Amino acid sequence: MRLDRFLGNLPTLNRQEVQRLLASGAIKVDGQTCREGRHEVRAFQRIELAEQVLQAGKPARYFMLHKPAGVVSATVHNEHRTVLDLLDEPDKHELHIGGRLDLNTSGLLLITNDGLWSRRLTEPRSELGKVYRVETEQAIDPACVAAFARGLYFAYEDLTTRPAELVILGPNSALLTLHEGRYHQVKRMFGHFHNKVIGLHRESMGPLHLDPHLVPGQYRPLSADEIGLI
Ligand code: URA
Repeated sequence: MRLDRFLGNLPTLNRQEVQRLLASGAIKVDGQTCREGRHEVRAFQRIELAEQVLQAGKPARYFMLHKPAGVVSATVHNEHRTVLDLLDEPDKHELHIGGRLDLNTSGLLLITNDGLWSRRLTEPRSELGKVYRVETEQAIDPACVAAFARGLYFAYEDLTTRPAELVILGPNSALLTLHEGRYHQVKRMFGHFHNKVIGLHRESMGPLHLDPHLVPGQYRPLSADEIGLI
């Protein structure tokens, strides 16, 4: 990734500040001052701003896990097994989850130690579509399609959900694409129509699809191509 893009992705810096910092010589890459925004930086290079480490220079790690239902999307939990318990990797405490799933939701979960990458995956303005397969208790009301496309009002957060695409597959099953991740969002959207979600599975996040070879509980590292898609 270009150095100016890396810096611009940080929550605290805007583009003008990035240009100013580069020009003033405040940025170091692997200990050398770098004023060139076009300079390509890799995940394992050390990047510093006025002695503050922005990227530690440890190898970046990226995994996709087929999360089974019943495992919690957290790094520690005192009651349930966590998704990190399913990984046989060193230094697991350095890893975090890019976009959690509820306890009973299964499907694609991305786990990494690269905070900038996971931020691009989950930040609201990225608007990456996340596709969920939904099974419901009652038959799905066709009116859901237009209502979800318009957006639903969530009183608790005082917001209207972003337009979401619903494709009804059968009386009780559908594919739903969301462009944000609100608390229990899918369940609340169907709850609005007095319909209970009894099965929820995430198939994809933007261009990354759950590998069909992974059975629930299995994981694999992402390929370089997959990492570069985000
Ligand atoms: N919406 C939900 O209700 N649960 C999830 O796990 C993900 C989206």
